[in-house]
Amino acid sequence: MRRLSTGIPQFDALIEGGVPEGFFVALTGEPGTGKTIFSLHFVAQGLKEGDPCIYVTTEESRESIIRQAKQFNWDFEEHMEKKLIIIDALMREREDEWSLMELTPEELVQKVIQAKQKLGYGKARLVIDSVSALFLDKPAMSRKISYYLKRVLNKWNFTIYATSQYAITTSQAFGFGVEHVADGIIRFRRAVRGGELRRFILIEKMRQTNHDRHVWEIDVKPGRGIVLVRRLEERREDYALPRDVQERIKRASEINERFIPEDV
Ligand SMILES: Nc1ncnc2c1ncn2[C@@H]1O[C@H](COP(=O)(O)OP(=O)(O)OP(=O)(O)O)[C@@H](O)[C@H]1O
Ligand SMILES: [Mg+2]
Repeated sequence: MRRLSTGIPQFDALIEGGVPEGFFVALTGEPGTGKTIFSLHFVAQGLKEGDPCIYVTTEESRESIIRQAKQFNWDFEEHMEKKLIIIDALMREREDEWSLMELTPEELVQKVIQAKQKLGYGKARLVIDSVSALFLDKPAMSRKISYYLKRVLNKWNFTIYATSQYAITTSQAFGFGVEHVADGIIRFRRAVRGGELRRFILIEKMRQTNHDRHVWEIDVKPGRGIVLVRRLEERREDYALPRDVQERIKRASEINERFIPEDV
């Protein structure tokens, strides 16, 4: 099995060397926890290895993504249109070929395929940041839409990161549908400890992989990006969501199921 480096060597070591090729990996978590920067590592690594890369951005403009990457010394501009296409679903500029005028699963897929055709054959990396933007107003559709994306895009030789927002204060996690469809789930969390914002990461699922099951504290370092700071002693078992939240998610999922036709 071929594995793709995440661009964070410390993280690769936790998943037997990298993400299995062709996987659909969900990055879920609260705002500001590092999902976008984690995704930029994946793209920067792809560019380094010569993989075509496509980045769909729904909450930040293309310029903002390029600027953020530059802060970690990745020059995305030099690869633009040759190895990298950033599809901007925020600015919606009609004269921009790689702008999405409407944020629907079908439009997104069509644009991604168009970008893939432009970049050429072979394995490629795709980031959808965020996938939850596609179903914020219709959470019951999240699983169906995620399934559709995975099924269609798989045929195009992509290894996919899909970020999704997650808030335990809501009765339904927006990422819920994504997580069931995903081959891997990387959970990002934040907490204030000792008066300071800390960020944590946990691999909740990585199919076909004997992955690490510890919570890791991460940090974003200027000029470097994400680093793993230390391993916490808690493990997944200790880190699970409170029981009432789990119950609510379970109920929401049962409702969700009823909306899914047999043939998706
Ligand atoms: N150059 C930098 N140096 C140090 N830390 C930085 C730098 N740039 C960004 N950060 C940190 O990274 C955070 C943003 O991370 P990121 O954009 O990956 O979050 P996210 O999980 O994608 O959030 P959202 O769900 O809101 O999109 C910032 O709030 C800041 O703390
Ligand atoms: Mg983000």
